[in-house]
Amino acid sequence: MPVHKHDVVIVGSGLAGLRTAVEAVGSADVALISKVFPTRSHSGAAQGGIAAAIGNEEPDSWEWHMFDTVKGGDYLTDQDAAEVLARDGPRAVYELEHMGVPFNRTPEGRIAQRAFGGHTRDYGKAAVKRACYAADRTGRVILDTLYGQAVRKGIRVYAELSIVDLIFRDGRAAGLVAYDLATGELHLFHCRLLLLATGGFGKVYKTTSNCFANTGDGVYLAYRAGLPLEDMEFVQFHPTGIHGLGVLISEAARGEGGILRNRDGERFMERYAPTIKDLAARDVVSRAIMQEIQEGRGIDGQDIVHLDLTHLGKDRLAERLSDISSFVRIYLGIDPASEPIPVHPTCHYMMGGIPTDVDGRVLGKDLQPVTGLFAAGECACVSVHGANRLGCNSLLDLVVFGRRAGKKMLAQLPNVPWPQLPRDAGDAVRERIERLKGRSSGERVHGLRRELQQVMMERCAVFRREADLRQALEDIRALQARCRDGLYLNYRGERFNTDLLEALELESLLGLAETIVLSALKRTESRGAHWREDFPDRDDQRWLKHTLVALEDGEPAIFYRPVTVTRFEPKPRVY
Ligand code: FUM
Repeated sequence: MPVHKHDVVIVGSGLAGLRTAVEAVGSADVALISKVFPTRSHSGAAQGGIAAAIGNEEPDSWEWHMFDTVKGGDYLTDQDAAEVLARDGPRAVYELEHMGVPFNRTPEGRIAQRAFGGHTRDYGKAAVKRACYAADRTGRVILDTLYGQAVRKGIRVYAELSIVDLIFRDGRAAGLVAYDLATGELHLFHCRLLLLATGGFGKVYKTTSNCFANTGDGVYLAYRAGLPLEDMEFVQFHPTGIHGLGVLISEAARGEGGILRNRDGERFMERYAPTIKDLAARDVVSRAIMQEIQEGRGIDGQDIVHLDLTHLGKDRLAERLSDISSFVRIYLGIDPASEPIPVHPTCHYMMGGIPTDVDGRVLGKDLQPVTGLFAAGECACVSVHGANRLGCNSLLDLVVFGRRAGKKMLAQLPNVPWPQLPRDAGDAVRERIERLKGRSSGERVHGLRRELQQVMMERCAVFRREADLRQALEDIRALQARCRDGLYLNYRGERFNTDLLEALELESLLGLAETIVLSALKRTESRGAHWREDFPDRDDQRWLKHTLVALEDGEPAIFYRPVTVTRFEPKPRVY
């Protein structure tokens, strides 16, 4: 097995991984491992903008941004982390501008901003323009710019390698095993510091805006290694996915003035969020859409509502929302300038993940940093998004906390000796692959994955109930048993064996689905994106706490930790 030795290994080349790498590279030898070519990372699909209270278009302040983040997260947000995010936002955006990100401009030449869901001025009084944007391809241009910086700084990139095991020695991270898709070879990476930036795992659900690579490998491998996962029950459904496909129609469409309408043509968000209407937080809007559908006000009796952009005009659509206009033309054959778009909520983002402190250090079961291990981005839970992330806070999270993790790694490095690699590193994965390839009959990966995605969609999506969650848990465990005992690969060759890769990913998806459902079952209240029809109220007395789930003797066990409240006492959340 080829062995690669680098001071710092970063897994994932989206914005969090790239921003960490660019920061950490100083005196360290930094390598990036990515499941896809870096510029194909899912950050590139982020459309609407990056939030920062720079106040270029309207008065704004970082305190208002912090308040919105805490309220958006339904008060589960750790407020020390929200303060870091909101305070650092303006610096982070100007830094990106100086690196070369081509933001849209105001007529005076300043970075242009637009409204986005849940972002307000004066502590909730009205929507504010806080999202800095590059048309509707903001993630794309930031990804390209950061990749350019990584190339310029000579960061070594290993593309199209998937991590399949994490290696620990004497309680500290020592490296990992990766599977090379092109050759079928396993590679061993040996490092002093390791950062996971492997993104989300929307592929647990049938309808999602996430790309194929978003299977949560890093998160699952951390969990399998005995580390806890935090707040897994909080899964964000973005209100406007293209009907039937889940492809994202950016919230920027509503930020630019788009309106959601039911079968009667009614602007129904006026009833659910009288102050900021279509620009309420995502969980509120997604529930409103589902309620309209359930009460028979979907378009033509179907499970869709309309997103109406027809009044925005061709020029504005072309200038500010050109990508989504083209998606709608390509996938639906609709011109958004003249017809409304059929939309349905789509799984978009995981608030939960690997617990970290504000410097990206991964926390173990004792809530103390695990030596040598860091995480940043969607795979991490800082927890800055609490029970529901605000739009545009994700791109900011990636660059703010990615940079902080990089700084911390660089500071720690001089005092971190090389760990020993265990002699048997990689053996378990090799044996597993041989077992999979050796089976001559059994079940196909895609069938089991489809069943899982259907179960999650039907029983653990926008609305949840105890009976559904119990059934989902049973179904997932049955799928896990079938996966363990009888997966069969169509193709057993070495080169580009996506069948094998998907078999390895399926274990991650199933394991993560189990943690989502179990955490959701235990939380008997409704908060943010976790809405229990059988417990429709938020219950701060019992549930103002983070869920943690970790393996104990091979079984998932739940425990809790308190939420950090600094400036804003929990209040009822109205928009
Ligand atoms: O709607 C959007 O453009 C998505 C942005 C985000 O998730 O932050």
